[in-house]
Amino acid sequence: MTHPLEQLRDEALREIDSASDGQALETARIKYLGKSGSISAWGEQMRTLGKDEKPIVGKLLNEVRNAVSAALESRAANFRSQMESEALGKMDVSLPGTPHEIGALHPLTQMWQRSIEIFRRMGFALADGPDIEDEWQCFDALNTPPEHPARNEQDTFYLPDGRLLRTHTSTVQIRTMQAAPPPIRVIAPGAAYRRDELDATHSPQFHQIEGLYVDENVSVADLKGALEFFMRELFGAGTEVQFRPHYFPFTEPSLEIYVKSKALKSGERWIEVAGSGIVHPAVFEAVNKARGDKAYDPEKWTGYAFGLGMDRLAMILFDIPDIRLFAQNDLRFLRQFA
Ligand code: PHE
Repeated sequence: MTHPLEQLRDEALREIDSASDGQALETARIKYLGKSGSISAWGEQMRTLGKDEKPIVGKLLNEVRNAVSAALESRAANFRSQMESEALGKMDVSLPGTPHEIGALHPLTQMWQRSIEIFRRMGFALADGPDIEDEWQCFDALNTPPEHPARNEQDTFYLPDGRLLRTHTSTVQIRTMQAAPPPIRVIAPGAAYRRDELDATHSPQFHQIEGLYVDENVSVADLKGALEFFMRELFGAGTEVQFRPHYFPFTEPSLEIYVKSKALKSGERWIEVAGSGIVHPAVFEAVNKARGDKAYDPEKWTGYAFGLGMDRLAMILFDIPDIRLFAQNDLRFLRQFA
C-alpha cells in the first residue's frame, strides 16, 4: 500500500516534470513546499500521530521533501541553461568585433620619459613649478634686470594682473632653492612660452627640462660630464657634444650645448640643444634674500644649471621636420610613435 505522502510526492514530481516554464515551476513549488503547501501541511500533522507512527512518517516526510526540492532544482537548472543557449543561439560569432583603438604616448612624452629616466640614474630628483609665474621668479631672481629684452612685451605673454607665462623652466631653480637648502640635485620638466612666430622650428609654447645641481665645489667639468653622459645615453655612444661660450644673465660662465651624431638623420650637422652654465652668485643672493637666511652662501656653494629643449631633442631623435606637428594631434603623425 502506498502512503498518501508517497502519492503526494509522485503527483508533485509529475507536475514538476511537465512544467513548461519557470512560472509553472514556481507555482508547483508553492503548491507543495510553500508555507501552506500540501507537503508542508504534513509537518503540522506530525503532532497528531502516535508514538509508533511518528518516526516512520517523519522519515518518509523528509525523503519526500528532499526528492521534491531536488526535482524542482534540477528542472530550474534545465530552464536556465535552455534560456542561455537560446540567447547564445541568436549571437553571430562570425561577426567582426568592435574595433578598439589603444592609444600610445605622445612623442614628446616619450622623450620626457627617456630623459627623466637617464637623469634619475644620475641621482636627480623631480621638481615642479607653475606655468603662470610672477616677474620676480622668472626674471629678477634670475639676475635679469627690468631693462633686459627678455622682459619685453613683444617677447613674453603677460596676464592683465602683471603675472606672466614663464619664458623658461629656470623659474623652478628659484622655487626649489626657496623651498630647501643645499645640496640640491633636481630636474624640472615642463612647458615654457615665448612670443615667437609659429614656424617649422619655433612655437609660442615649447618644452624644457631644467636641471639644477648645487653642492660644494661644483665645476664646469661636472656640468660637462653630466650632460655629455646624458647626450650619449640618449643619442648613442658615438654622439659628439660641444660646449660653446654664450651669455645668460643667471649663469657665469654660460655655455650652449651642441650635439652631432652619425647615428642621427641630421648626420654631420651640429645642433643646439641646451643652454647651461655655472649658477651666478647673484642668483644665490636673490634666493637668500627671499628665504631670509644665508643658506645659499656663494662663498660655500657652487652649482650648475641647464635647460634642455625637449621639442628640439625629440625632433632630432625621431627625425621630425616641423615643431608644429607636436601640437596638431594628427593621428597619421602620432601613430608613427605608437
Ligand atoms: N633658461 C635658459 C633658456 O631658456 C636655458 C638655461 C637654463 C641656461 C639654465 C642656463 C642655465 O634659454
